[in-house]
Amino acid sequence: MSASVPAGLTELLKGYTLEVLRRRPADLLEFAVLYFTRLREQRSSSRRSPVTRGEAFDRSSSGDGEEEEEEEEEDDFPDDFTFKVCAEAYNPDEDEDEGDEPTVVHPKTDAQRQRLQEACRDILLFKTLEQDQFSEVLDSMFEVLVQPSECIISQGDDGDNFYVIERGVFEILIQKDGVSRCVGRYDHKGSFGELALMYNTPRAATIRAAQEGALWALDRATFHRLIVKNNAKKRKMYESFIESVPLLKSLQLSERLKIVDVVGMKTFSDGERIIRQGDSADCFYIVESGEVKIMIRSKTQAGQRSQEEVEVARCSRGQYFGELALVTNKPRAASVYAAGETRCLVIDVQAFERLLGSCKEILKRNISQYEQQLLAVFGSSIDLKH
Ligand code: CMP
Ligand code: CMP
Repeated sequence: MSASVPAGLTELLKGYTLEVLRRRPADLLEFAVLYFTRLREQRSSSRRSPVTRGEAFDRSSSGDGEEEEEEEEEDDFPDDFTFKVCAEAYNPDEDEDEGDEPTVVHPKTDAQRQRLQEACRDILLFKTLEQDQFSEVLDSMFEVLVQPSECIISQGDDGDNFYVIERGVFEILIQKDGVSRCVGRYDHKGSFGELALMYNTPRAATIRAAQEGALWALDRATFHRLIVKNNAKKRKMYESFIESVPLLKSLQLSERLKIVDVVGMKTFSDGERIIRQGDSADCFYIVESGEVKIMIRSKTQAGQRSQEEVEVARCSRGQYFGELALVTNKPRAASVYAAGETRCLVIDVQAFERLLGSCKEILKRNISQYEQQLLAVFGSSIDLKH
């Protein structure tokens, strides 16, 4: 008896088989149901069917060779393919604790609201919210006063709130192999406690007040309803851009997606200063559109900073700046201005340390290039490392 094999069957089964070999599931049937269901969902939400490739699961865990695989497959997958697949681990639409509950409003005095607004002004996670969502966030935040040595978050606990700092110094402690180490601190600004809420994981660090301070807290349910849902939108907006940034190519796909979750977007008008030479550093930038000018005030022979700034370089789409002070732990080495309207992705120093730590060697490679630029412009060598 001869029977012809339907078109696509071999590819379909090959995809499933490869996934089984890669993931080694305990229950093949259960895995098949999951695999094909997900494949069908992806096909129905995309005209360009990914069926024949058989990649229905998060490709971030594919290990070695991931980059080649991605490049090779780029043309056959819908643009938002990885977004849908990887959002799965913490899909806001399936979240059981958010429901349709109305926002719990914590009444505030005018003075409190003003202090809260000031504290939230530069919080990156709030930067991509619509105005009414941001107002809801402000309405539902409540004040928390803390005492010296108080632990606001303990590593390993379940996540309850997200916190924005109004004032105070807070240490970040991470316990590993029974030893607790301080890996950083927040100095009167910033926010923490988003990871356990975003990814449904235990608290990744302990946060301890080094002195008396004041925080604003946002409860888990509201954080999910407003911030995590907004992250899905952010992924749609920035994922393909993040994928195209050369610096981030060495990261795993899942790590790049985590960057999308925590980035903020800032728009600067022509001539606006983004970084001031000599300031301490708290974030890192990637140009999304437009251009920036890097300007330097060199030292005079008497060792004073000259008032005149000289342009030494420009950065455009996909290029980054503001990494030097973070990798050398020194003040900003240059001032940076927008040349025309410019949009930048912004990553705070804690997320930079956590997510871009593995890129530090690549980042350091720029230092000698900067030193050469400075030599060419000023005619004398400037040591940026020490
Ligand atoms: P979460 O895991 O909810 O609680 C502890 C918080 O510490 C974490 O979210 C981050 O907001 C913050 N944090 C700052 N630096 C780090 C770090 N290096 N690793 C993990 N968490 C960090
Ligand atoms: P940072 O020192 O944190 O802030 C200013 C940024 O300008 C710096 O990081 C670099 O990212 C960027 N930059 C570009 N060219 C130069 C240069 N020649 N010297 C110093 N900084 C430079």
